[in-house]
Amino acid sequence: MKPHVPVLLDEVIHALAPKGGGKYIDGTVGAGGHAEAILNASAPDGKLLGLDGDLDALELARQTLQPFGERAVLVRSNFTQIKTVATQYGWIPADGVLLDFGLSSMQLANPARGFAFTSDSLDMRMDDRTELTAAEIVNKWDEAELADLIFEYGEERASHKIARVICEYRPLHSAHELADLIERTVGRHGKIHPATRTFQALRIAVNHELENVENVLPQLAQVVEQGGRVAIITFHSLEDRIVKSFFKNNAQWRNLTKHPIQPTYQQTRENPRARSAKLRVAKRV
Ligand SMILES: C[S@@+](CC[C@H](N)C(=O)[O-])C[C@H]1O[C@@H](n2cnc3c(N)ncnc32)[C@H](O)[C@@H]1O
Repeated sequence: MKPHVPVLLDEVIHALAPKGGGKYIDGTVGAGGHAEAILNASAPDGKLLGLDGDLDALELARQTLQPFGERAVLVRSNFTQIKTVATQYGWIPADGVLLDFGLSSMQLANPARGFAFTSDSLDMRMDDRTELTAAEIVNKWDEAELADLIFEYGEERASHKIARVICEYRPLHSAHELADLIERTVGRHGKIHPATRTFQALRIAVNHELENVENVLPQLAQVVEQGGRVAIITFHSLEDRIVKSFFKNNAQWRNLTKHPIQPTYQQTRENPRARSAKLRVAKRV
């Protein structure tokens, strides 16, 4: 499997400015790339609490962070439990929090997970302890519900057309059946696969992505100390809008990025997954 290349790594480290003795939380530790850099930057005794809902991700993070010994603590948890877990592990107040939403390259590359257009499955759960799968939505929801979902979470203009063919051709058993059906229905224009927005919609619904973002943001002020920072990387405009408006309208936070930090052309070429990344940074006041 391809290793996961952390997005906007230098920018995240600059934003969090980790220091020796500091306590940091990575709410989406993934393969541990950002976490490793935070631990290096906070040497010799900075500590990191890493959360992830995905067991495979945690195993990789464990390998990446092994050299740091007890400076790294990993917990399988949804980041919506950040305050509870941080309290339990004595991580409050933290000096900084990182949230890097979206998929890891390992999740995308694993055909059994159903995230890629070529996958044999239609699962799309980031945490397999949850129940709802993409297959359930695609094969059971009625046409109007499907169309609304694809329009709202995928911002897909052809949502009605796509919902109609899904209902006509189901049951669908794999991501590649679904991706091919969408391609045949709406055609391909440009470089982006025509199923991209529908897949985004399904993933958001399966993993409650927007609710999770809305849930975690208000907890951060209770987790991070005054003067501490949070760095948040989003990968689609629905998430970014929530983060942007939260920091704008919340007196506990000073927004340090009037415009989000985005990857350079060179960074996107080296790591295509970074294409739509936006980093926002805020300081607790
Ligand atoms: C983009 S990856 C993070 C990559 C990481 N920054 C690195 O450098 O390797 C996002 C990770 O967040 C996890 N994730 C997504 N939603 C989550 C949630 N609500 N709670 C906990 N982990 C979540 C995914 O399982 C995935 O491993």
